[in-house]
Amino acid sequence: MKKVAVIYWSQTGNTQQMAQLIAQGALEGGAQVECMPVSSLTPEQALEYDGLALGCPAMGAEVLEEAEFDPFFTQLEGHLQGRTLAIFGSYGWGDGEWMRSWQNRCAAAGASLVGGEGLAVCGTPAGEDEARCIALGKALA
Ligand SMILES: Cc1cc2nc3c(=O)[nH]c(=O)nc-3n(C[C@H](O)[C@H](O)[C@H](O)COP(=O)(O)O)c2cc1C
Repeated sequence: MKKVAVIYWSQTGNTQQMAQLIAQGALEGGAQVECMPVSSLTPEQALEYDGLALGCPAMGAEVLEEAEFDPFFTQLEGHLQGRTLAIFGSYGWGDGEWMRSWQNRCAAAGASLVGGEGLAVCGTPAGEDEARCIALGKALA
């Protein structure tokens, strides 16, 4: 059975809700799933999973959260060649620039993204966005 980790950083719970829906989808897709905040594991531990879904909201000025998530992703970056991963996150007022930059970093690292792009949701996931999160988890599984 494929082992999937859904790893996220979230301040007000929106990206966490996305993570839980993605984990639900991966479980429905037949994977063994763990869903956890980024503070709970090392990049080395993350690389032991067959499938990775990484979530972080737009923070700062259209960047990944800088204290925990960006350092974590930066350490992973050199080990993503040939891997397929899902990336996701919630944003507020921007146009998704943080997600485009993140997608570019994944491409430069040699990773492909499930669905071809990151999943960005404005605010709290609801309705169609919830379905998109679940579908992303299923596709990753
Ligand atoms: C310090 C800070 C910086 C933010 N910067 C951006 C930004 O650059 N672009 C944007 O669209 N939203 C920005 N936001 C809004 C968050 O991305 C949005 O509230 C998101 O839903 C938070 O996700 P979370 O509930 O998982 O923490 C910012 C929020 C905070 C608190």
